[in-house]
Amino acid sequence: TASTVAAAPEDPLFGLMKAYREDPSDKKVDLGIGAYRDNNAKPWVLPVVKKADDAIHNDPNLNHEYLSIGGLPDLTAAAQKLIVGADSPAIKEKRICTLQTISGTGAVHLGGLFLSKFHPQKPTIYLSNPTWANHNQIFSNVGLKIAQYPYFSAKTKGLDFDGMLSALRAAPNGSIILLHACAHNPTGVDPTEDQWRQIATLMRERAHFPFFDTAYQGFASDAWAIRYFIEQGFELCVAQSFAKNFGLYGERTGAFHFVSAGGADASAANANVASQLAILQRSEISNPPAYGARIAAKVLNDPQLFKEWEDDLRTMSGRILEMRSGLRERLEKRGTPGSWEHITSQIGMFSFTGLTETQVKALRDKWHVYMTKNGRISMAGLNTNNIDYFAEAVDSVVRE
Ligand code: LMR
Repeated sequence: TASTVAAAPEDPLFGLMKAYREDPSDKKVDLGIGAYRDNNAKPWVLPVVKKADDAIHNDPNLNHEYLSIGGLPDLTAAAQKLIVGADSPAIKEKRICTLQTISGTGAVHLGGLFLSKFHPQKPTIYLSNPTWANHNQIFSNVGLKIAQYPYFSAKTKGLDFDGMLSALRAAPNGSIILLHACAHNPTGVDPTEDQWRQIATLMRERAHFPFFDTAYQGFASDAWAIRYFIEQGFELCVAQSFAKNFGLYGERTGAFHFVSAGGADASAANANVASQLAILQRSEISNPPAYGARIAAKVLNDPQLFKEWEDDLRTMSGRILEMRSGLRERLEKRGTPGSWEHITSQIGMFSFTGLTETQVKALRDKWHVYMTKNGRISMAGLNTNNIDYFAEAVDSVVRE
């Protein structure tokens, strides 16, 4: 009964968002949640999304019927192509299945639930340290054991590649390894292609199962690592979000893919996986939400709109890159103690600044700057109006 339930802590990220909203200061800066903002710190509806939205909205045949359990076929087929490539043998050999999900979170959950129920060994899942905070609770909620592999080197503010490889080598054979396909959250640090090759070689030796999470395709590199692992013959799964790259945050649009390794019975085995995923999906959400899926599908399936989408992605990533170089330049000009090179070498939406928890707190208390306490900033929260103020604030707390 209710009286036996202890209070849970507030979600750190959504708590931060609330605190920011409630702060009356006109100087406040929101570098918390990973959501793109334009140069006026406002949410940005991608022009191509607006176009698709208008077309769908004005379609006289639009209705609000259920989608099928697996979601909108126009979306799932396009999502597959976007991730594995239109010419992928996985598609030709019918050994990839895809279900539309409640954004990336739903995809991670569906994959975790499936592995927890159907993996004969129910292996431990290894997460990068650090990782997206939600990974921990999603996987533990479905009953998977969690372990960590080193990822970020505090010293170089880059990849701790040796630490990562040793941990993957030491993990029991057949472990599940969660990998961020690109633009790692929260660090903005990705392996190079050569490092991915070495990771793949080691994972094959140890028979590990790759679970890719991709929420930032289009912001940094593409789906190279996933395609490489498929080429190398891995069985793997992918959680794909369209929240960030379409700006469809609240529409909850995403997909879960399960790719079977090649072989004579791969297609039949994959169909079995698809049938079990459909039962899990039906029992949890029945069928996924339609509107965001229609928008993403329209853009992905129309060559002209697809081009416009790529332009919009360039607009977002281009502005973020300008903020990276602008911030580094300002800190270096001030002679702010420490090295700031990592601000421009890290990629994607985030920078893992290296600021300490105390400094993060001082930034919030004295400067009304909101960021997660691990020192992550969402680069998209910076703009030409607040970047000088932020650099001044960082300079001040670093010198304290
Ligand atoms: C983030 O890490 O800021 C985003 O992925 C938002 C979220 O759901 O946590």
